[in-house]
Amino acid sequence: MAHPMRRVAVLGSTGSVGTQTLDVIRAFPDKFDVVALSAGKNLGLLAQQIDEFNPEYVLCEDSEALKSLPGRDCGSLEEMATLPEVDVVMVSTVGSAGLLPTVRALEAGKSVALANKEVLIMAGEQVMDASRRFNNQILPVDSEPSAIWQCMLGERDAVRKLIITASGGAFRDRSPTELGNVTPEEALNHPTWSMGRKITIDSATLVNKAFEVIEAHWLFDMPYDKIDVVIHRQSIVHSMIETADGIVKAHLGSPDMRYPIQYALSHPQRVFNPGLKPFDPVETGSLTFEAMDPQLYPCFELAIDVGRRPGTWGAALMGADEAAVEMFLENRIKFTEIPDVIRAVVDQHTPKDSTNLPNLDEVIQTARWASDTARATVVGSSN
Ligand SMILES: NC(=O)c1ccc[n+]([C@@H]2O[C@H](COP(=O)([O-])OP(=O)(O)OC[C@H]3O[C@@H](n4cnc5c(N)ncnc54)[C@H](OP(=O)(O)O)[C@@H]3O)[C@@H](O)[C@H]2O)c1
Repeated sequence: MAHPMRRVAVLGSTGSVGTQTLDVIRAFPDKFDVVALSAGKNLGLLAQQIDEFNPEYVLCEDSEALKSLPGRDCGSLEEMATLPEVDVVMVSTVGSAGLLPTVRALEAGKSVALANKEVLIMAGEQVMDASRRFNNQILPVDSEPSAIWQCMLGERDAVRKLIITASGGAFRDRSPTELGNVTPEEALNHPTWSMGRKITIDSATLVNKAFEVIEAHWLFDMPYDKIDVVIHRQSIVHSMIETADGIVKAHLGSPDMRYPIQYALSHPQRVFNPGLKPFDPVETGSLTFEAMDPQLYPCFELAIDVGRRPGTWGAALMGADEAAVEMFLENRIKFTEIPDVIRAVVDQHTPKDSTNLPNLDEVIQTARWASDTARATVVGSSN
């Protein structure tokens, strides 16, 4: 018999999506039970979360510090993702950390609420294959794929096109010449969403939007030429689908990640959360849509071009971008050098064998190689 509560493991509970996941769970104490929590380095916040949610299992990067925390040590994120007591795994880690836990959770019969989109950039085919083979669902958490998922309900065979919206990021009103001197602080100041550091920089370059196109390609089995991107400054329309008869369905709401997180956790039910501000179309006012200026976002085409290639290309892209973003945040490269770093790494990537699907270790190794190569490229060029 199914457990009366949905039992949740939150991987990356101290991050932006992780804390908002716990905020949703806090609103529904009779529906969700936190079984396991994992953090990276933020032990103070993890300790507070343990105190409030009393999970049976915990994990953080510092194994010594872990011993002083209440709760059973899980050993690894993969073990946490496959605990028999868990029904849904919220993968809200960042970068490659979520790949193995996602695949192992699917293989172990769990539903995976997937925020950590890089997992699909690195190994979309392997992840979707695990989902299909073990008949377990990936529940999109990212707001745009969540919007598409919800628009597609009842329309699966009638969808002609996906239209993904993009806010345009922190520098949407700067000219290309102004971008050379922008600071990490300016780039971290996203106009509509409050998010973790990496995704905020990825939003400013539009790598994040390229990642969402790739994510949508895998999640909804949609050819790339049927996925469009439009700039929509207000971040109210989270995405749209066009059906066979030319009708467009859009998903609207406030830019608040707790909505898609909540739907992923409660699906197929819808639950009312009095803590979320209701959407008011009159207060919202005008909604605008613009074409994307490719000159302003050179990373977008580059990331799409590389990310859609088979084999280990996606992992190379992910690793190169991750290191480039970190180096920009460390003030080691300029914002406008992010695409140069990615291109330099990708140019050096030689996939082993494009006929066989790489295994997950090869994928993770490629991402690590790409990060290291990106850093070496920058050190080399500054000598
Ligand atoms: N934030 C958003 O609104 C949003 C929206 C859509 C999609 N996403 C996607 O969701 C994912 C999470 O984004 P975020 O903004 O929540 O990121 P974030 O704020 O940086 O949080 C990342 C979480 O993962 C943990 N972590 C980082 N590296 C780890 C590692 N190697 N092993 C284990 N745990 C690790 C961090 O722990 P510590 O902080 O304790 O070190 C933190 O709990 C990203 O893939 C992002 O693209 C985010």
